[in-house]
Amino acid sequence: MGAGKSTLGPLLAERLGRPFVSVDAAVEGEAGSTVAELFAQPGEDAFRKLEERAACEALSRRIPAVVELGGGALGSQETRAALEANAFTILLETTPEEAWQRVSSPVRPLARDQDEFRKLFVERTPVYELVADGRARDLDGAVLAAAGVHVREGSTDRLADLVPPASAVELVVDANVDALHGDRVRAALGVRLSASHVVPVGGPAKTAAEAERLWSALRLDRDGLVVAFGGGSTCDLAGFVAATHLRGVAWAPVPTTLVGQVDAAIGGKVGIDLPEGKNLVGSFHWPARAIVDPDLLATLPSQELENGRAEVVKTGLLLGEPLWERDLAAQARSATAFKAAVCLRDPEDRGERAQLNLGHTFAHALEAASGFTLSHGRAVALGLLAALRISGLDEQVRTVEELLRPTPVPVDRELAWSALERDKKSVGGSVRLVLLDAPGAPRMGVELDSTEVRAALDALIA
Ligand SMILES: NC(=O)c1ccc[n+]([C@@H]2O[C@H](COP(=O)([O-])OP(=O)(O)OC[C@H]3O[C@@H](n4cnc5c(N)ncnc54)[C@H](O)[C@@H]3O)[C@@H](O)[C@H]2O)c1
Ligand SMILES: [Zn+2]
Repeated sequence: MGAGKSTLGPLLAERLGRPFVSVDAAVEGEAGSTVAELFAQPGEDAFRKLEERAACEALSRRIPAVVELGGGALGSQETRAALEANAFTILLETTPEEAWQRVSSPVRPLARDQDEFRKLFVERTPVYELVADGRARDLDGAVLAAAGVHVREGSTDRLADLVPPASAVELVVDANVDALHGDRVRAALGVRLSASHVVPVGGPAKTAAEAERLWSALRLDRDGLVVAFGGGSTCDLAGFVAATHLRGVAWAPVPTTLVGQVDAAIGGKVGIDLPEGKNLVGSFHWPARAIVDPDLLATLPSQELENGRAEVVKTGLLLGEPLWERDLAAQARSATAFKAAVCLRDPEDRGERAQLNLGHTFAHALEAASGFTLSHGRAVALGLLAALRISGLDEQVRTVEELLRPTPVPVDRELAWSALERDKKSVGGSVRLVLLDAPGAPRMGVELDSTEVRAALDALIA
C-alpha cells in the first residue's frame, strides 16, 4: 500500500501494450461501494473474499493483463497460488515512510495510524519477498523486471545470486573480455561455474564453426545455463548455441559493450552469420535473465562506445527524450528499458519492433558497400541523418550532427544502392523505411519513391 501501484500500473500496461486491471476497482464495481465502505460494512473478511474472487478472475484471463494487486490480497492462499501459476509478480519497492507519505488519508481503512501502518508493512514484507518474481521502483524498472533484465552498476560481482537457478553454469566469453574481466566473472560465479569457453573476438565468433565447437564442448543437461560474457557478437553466438543445444537450454547474457547492453542482449534475437550475409541463421530465444553492469563499459575502447552511442541516440529519437544528456549508466538503463518494452510488445518482430531499424536500412547498405570495414556506429549515425532528412526534421538532423559527427564515407555508390535495394525492407519498385513524424513518433513501413531514397543515400557518400 502506498508503493505507487495505481499510478504505475496503468502506465506499465500502456508501455507493454496490455490491458490494465485494478482488483480494487473490480471489487468496487461488483459491490457497488468503495473499499473503505466495504471495510466498514460488511467488514474486512467479507472484503477479502470479494478481493480473492476478483484477483483470481483477473489472473485467469486468457489475454494477459497488468494486474494491480494490494498487499493484503496475499493473505489468500488461492490468490498466492494463482500468482504463482499465472503471473510474473513485481514487487514495487518502497519504505514505510515513503508509503505513509503517499497513503495517509482518512479514506484508507488501513492507513489511519502511522504506527499501525508501519507494523502492517513490516508484517507483510516477508510475504511480498516470497511472492515477488522481480522488483522495481519506477516505470523503467517495472519494464526491465518484466523482461528479466537486471541493470545495476557492480552487478557483475553478484552474478552467483543474479543468474537464475540451474543444474550447472557454463560461461562463453570473448578472448579480449576474458583477459580484462574473466578472473572477476569466474570469481563472482564461484562454485556455480562448471566450465568456461573462450571464443574469438568480434564477428569471427558468429560462425557455424564456432557454434559447432561449442555444441560439442558443452556438458550441460536440459536444466543447465549458458552465461554469455562479451559484446553483441558473443551474446549472439552464445544465445544461439543455447537455443539449439539439446533443443534449447536457458541462457543469461552479461553484455560488456554498450551495444550489447542496450541492444544485443535484449529481446531474444540470437544468431550467427553465413558467408552469404549477416545474421542469416538464428532463432528467438529470450534470455532467462540479462544482467547489465554499466561499470563494465569503463574498459571499452572509444570506437566501441561510439557504436553504442549511435544506438542510444536512435533510441532517444524514437522515445522523444534526450537520453544522451544523461550519464552513461542512466543512458544504458533507459535505452535498455525502451528496447525491452518494444520487444515485449512484439517478441517475434512481426510489427512495431521494426521501429528499432530507424536509420538502419541506409546503415546496412553503407556497411555492405564498404565490405564491412565501416563501423556499425558510423553507419548508423549516417543512416539516422538520412532518415531524419527525409522525415523533414531539421532540428534533429542538427542534433545528430552535433552528437555523432557523421561524415560521408568513400564507398561505391552503385554497390551501396544495390545493397539497399536488396535489403529485406524493400518490396517491388519502392523502398520501405522507418521515419519519424516527430521525435517519439516513429512511422514504420513508409513507402517512398526510389529516387528520393537514392538521393538521400548519395548524400551520405563522399
Ligand atoms: N541480437 C540482437 O538483437 C543484436 C542487436 C544489435 C547487435 N547485434 C550484433 O552484435 C554484434 C556487435 O556487437 P558489439 O558492438 O557489442 O561488438 P563485439 O561483441 O564484436 O565487441 C566489439 C569489441 O569490443 C571488445 N569488448 C567487448 N567488451 C569489452 C569491454 N568491456 N572492454 C574492452 N573491450 C571490450 C570485444 O572484444 C571486441 O573487440 C554484431 O554481430 C551484431 O549483429 C545483435
Ligand atoms: Zn544497430
